Amino acid sequence: MARIVILEEKSPLKIEINGIVRSICRCGLSKNFPICDATHKTIVEEDGKIYKYVNGEKKEIDLNRLFQEELK
Ligand code: FES
Repeated sequence: MARIVILEEKSPLKIEINGIVRSICRCGLSKNFPICDATHKTIVEEDGKIYKYVNGEKKEIDLNRLFQEELK
């Protein structure tokens, strides 16, 4: 089973557990997910566009086209 998940956040969520502050990845690109490894700081994305990341490679996708192909 696979899922397409769209994440819009570009920064981590800081939480404190037992007095230790941890940064939780919300961009989905951390190599140490769910812990933020600061990869979000290297991302260059345009607002309003949607990208997919496969093996670290970024590609812009057209959601309308994606869903049209799914309906065939
Ligand atoms: S929020 Fe994802 S790497 Fe930092």
